[in-house]
Amino acid sequence: MPRFARHLTEQDGPNNPFPGLQALERRLGHTLPHRIGSNEGLDMPHQALAARFGPALAELARTYGDAEAWQLRSMLSEALDVPMDSLLVDAGADSLMALTLRALCDDGSTVITSAGTYPTWSYFVRGQGCRQVEVDYASDEGYLAPDLQALADAARREKARVLYLANPDNPAGHLHTDADVLALREALPEACTLVLDEAYHDFREDAWQPEANRVWPGVIRLRTFSKAHGLAGLRVGYAIATPDTLAMLMKVRIHYAVSSLALAAAETVLAHPDETRAHVDDVIARRRALSEWLRERGAEVLPSTTNFVSLRLGDAERAAAVHRTLLDEGTLIHRPAHPALGDLLRISALEDSLVPGRLDSLAAALR
Ligand SMILES: Cc1ncc(COP(=O)(O)O)c(C=O)c1O
Repeated sequence: MPRFARHLTEQDGPNNPFPGLQALERRLGHTLPHRIGSNEGLDMPHQALAARFGPALAELARTYGDAEAWQLRSMLSEALDVPMDSLLVDAGADSLMALTLRALCDDGSTVITSAGTYPTWSYFVRGQGCRQVEVDYASDEGYLAPDLQALADAARREKARVLYLANPDNPAGHLHTDADVLALREALPEACTLVLDEAYHDFREDAWQPEANRVWPGVIRLRTFSKAHGLAGLRVGYAIATPDTLAMLMKVRIHYAVSSLALAAAETVLAHPDETRAHVDDVIARRRALSEWLRERGAEVLPSTTNFVSLRLGDAERAAAVHRTLLDEGTLIHRPAHPALGDLLRISALEDSLVPGRLDSLAAALR
């Protein structure tokens, strides 16, 4: 059994006091057209909002979203072949990270993380009062990946409550196979939950195959609409996990964190998968072109299953100098703040990255 925060297992609840009107309608089996009990401002005319964004937005803006995200979960369930009760929608993968920590950890619980991986995770771990143990990446020429053996060893040694793995990883871009992730799960203590951050899942070749979306006991898979679906500003993501695990998360979830607009937008893009898939194909083509361009100039480019390309300069000071020069030119690329990965630079696979001249300062540093 995975372990959860003590105060959640030692009592019944907390129970969400406002499951929402849509949940009530589903329970009653009929609609409630006269919603005069939830103080929403339903008669706000919204002329300015409608003039700027159209009447559909003004309509959505007046009401609380469906706290259970029923429609979106049912569409996801069909698209991914995952049972609806194994899906939880929240305000992006970041929000899901904070939620998993809140549900899983007590003050001082130990969390295992790769040193230099997606830093928001560590930010939340520290904010939650957890004890973080970092494990170095496995590294070789042209290879940088979370070290699954070392992560499992650390989890066992430190009696960890949670292990975080970004797969595909940010900033390495590396994708571990599902077989390797399941072997990692096998090697973990039963009480330790694997939080598997799959923000870049949609860039996997098999992303839409049922096998790539399984519910794995002891694992909370985090997904997002921010990357392949282009909805970062609206904040929507989802978790795949066993129903009993999600029930624990639901105890402490901010129930209206996902807005009515965000839900409607996610439903709309999900109803048009061809547009998302075409976008993913374009991103992959640009990623290959960018990797090729960098390799031709002598860069150590890391293989990537994401929407970005990372390269290592082998020298943190040189990487910092390139980063600074590009910033002065008005170009923002990413250099991790973590000292373990200070020689790495990360570039998004956008059309703008391929514009001739855009990365010339980087190319000059590679010579
Ligand atoms: C590994 C990883 N997880 C999560 C996120 C954030 O996703 P969201 O916008 O859904 O919060 C990012 C964004 O860069 C990421 O790289």
